Amino acid sequence: MTVLQIIQPDNPLLRRPAARVTDFGQGLQTLIDDMHDTMEEAKGFGLAGPQVACSLRIIMARSPEGEVSGESASEDAEKLYVVANPQIIKRSEEKVLGVEGCLSLPGLLGDVERHESIEIAGQDREGRPIRLPASGRLARVFQHEIDHLDGVLYIDIATSVWRPTEEDQAAIAGAAENQ
Ligand code: NI
Repeated sequence: MTVLQIIQPDNPLLRRPAARVTDFGQGLQTLIDDMHDTMEEAKGFGLAGPQVACSLRIIMARSPEGEVSGESASEDAEKLYVVANPQIIKRSEEKVLGVEGCLSLPGLLGDVERHESIEIAGQDREGRPIRLPASGRLARVFQHEIDHLDGVLYIDIATSVWRPTEEDQAAIAGAAENQ
């Protein structure tokens, strides 16, 4: 198990547009496994390459159950989605306001408007083309992570940002996204 360091905004890599993934070899496989360990350790819902100082277009998100339509919701195991070179190819007109946090911005939360549902296209960890429809929390996490690939942080687009008290943090535990 390898837990990588999650960089903070004083590191310019977090603000740099990331490069496309072209090599799906062992280096990428190790990075993905390490990113997964890092996300789990940080109790995050999602993570993007630039957050661990790797300026590549790779994101991951975990989802408790069938938030991807067309999939059985009965799988009890949590599902991990890994997408290289993700692009949003469909967006719902409907937008929803929700609370977001970011592992790169500890101690802050914000209200962010996102498309309620989206479809993303990209490649899986072996480089095979994939498409993923997502709604609700998973759609929010994907939008947040894809923004990271372009150097965008949620605080850039949030309608409000605040520093929660410890009480607030307890109250919203599980609702706010650590991404
Ligand atoms: Ni984030």
